[in-house]
Amino acid sequence: MPNAVITGTGHYLPPRIVLNKELEQSCDTSDEWIQERTGILQRHFIAPGQTTSELGLFAALEALEAAGKKPADLDYIIFATLSPDVLFPGCGCLLQSRLGVENIPALDIRNQCSGFLYGLQVANALIRSEAARTVLLVGAEVHSTGLDLSPNGREVSVLFGDGAGAVVLEAGPQGRGIIRVEVGADGRHARDLWCEGPGSAEHPERITAQMLLDGRQYPKMKGRLVFRHAVQTMKSSLLGVLDAAGVSVGDLALLIPHQANLRIIEMVTRMLDMPPERVATNIQLVGNTTAGSIPILLDQSRRAGRLNEGDWLAMTAFGSGFTWGSAVIKW
Ligand code: ACO
Repeated sequence: MPNAVITGTGHYLPPRIVLNKELEQSCDTSDEWIQERTGILQRHFIAPGQTTSELGLFAALEALEAAGKKPADLDYIIFATLSPDVLFPGCGCLLQSRLGVENIPALDIRNQCSGFLYGLQVANALIRSEAARTVLLVGAEVHSTGLDLSPNGREVSVLFGDGAGAVVLEAGPQGRGIIRVEVGADGRHARDLWCEGPGSAEHPERITAQMLLDGRQYPKMKGRLVFRHAVQTMKSSLLGVLDAAGVSVGDLALLIPHQANLRIIEMVTRMLDMPPERVATNIQLVGNTTAGSIPILLDQSRRAGRLNEGDWLAMTAFGSGFTWGSAVIKW
């Protein structure tokens, strides 16, 4: 049975940088509050007209180049996002068309901050079962067009940024690549971090003038509750997957945690007794890019020379749903 090996990575961040100072003007927040509570200094926002599938395209082209592959070599596309260009069809189909490839399957994953890890599990299963040999997995978000940048939305809006990351996975030898991926969900908490509209649960239309007035088109979050669950679940999910893979925390050359809040990452790092220099972060410069978070940081870490062949790498994420996931990879 082949193993799924990551053979190329790429990312794209739109050029416009939004400093905390800029949010102060509309959000009734402060640079000091954002830095102290989240670690974030800045994030990237798209230029008018840019879309999630376009960000995904730029990241995908970089990943394909790094893998020495052309779009025509792909036989499966998986696209994780909570902010698709349109309600349907999914960004996977839009990306397939942008890449100029035809007929290969294009699957969208809607698992928010855990979307990349859910995608990794699907890609791994496709390759191991020999249903696919070369899979493109993209995680991308455009949050900036969906944030309440008034004081009402300040708890959520200061956290998020736009961006995309991508990986190419190929069939490879046993003992290398994705060794173990585990994901989970607890739908009892669906309403603790969610965005209601537009949605088919609304009558008579999916979005009404009243919904817009009430701000129900914006994400809502019980911040402290999410924080508590994120710390505990990332820790237990990661320890579970390491145990199943027979790898210890001390074996890890690098941990790539989902970038939701620097304080969450620091608490998880301390609880695992992990040296901070072996935990990658970029939330300071990009904020929370949700499904894009892990693949962007993976690409930045690889290009910075932080991963060598044979290293043990782990990833962990937690987010809306609630959903979570962790992976162990032999680089
Ligand atoms: N600027 C200034 N003040 C603010 C802001 C802001 N942007 N946001 C909240 N405050 C105020 C609150 O109103 C509150 O004021 P009060 O004490 O007068 O009532 C005070 O700051 C403290 O608020 P808390 O909610 O206790 O702040 P906390 O330290 O918990 O930080 C935060 C809030 C950053 C949202 C944190 O709870 C968090 O990071 N939660 C988890 C986020 C997360 O992991 N999300 C999951 C991934 S997202 C996804 O899946 C899509």
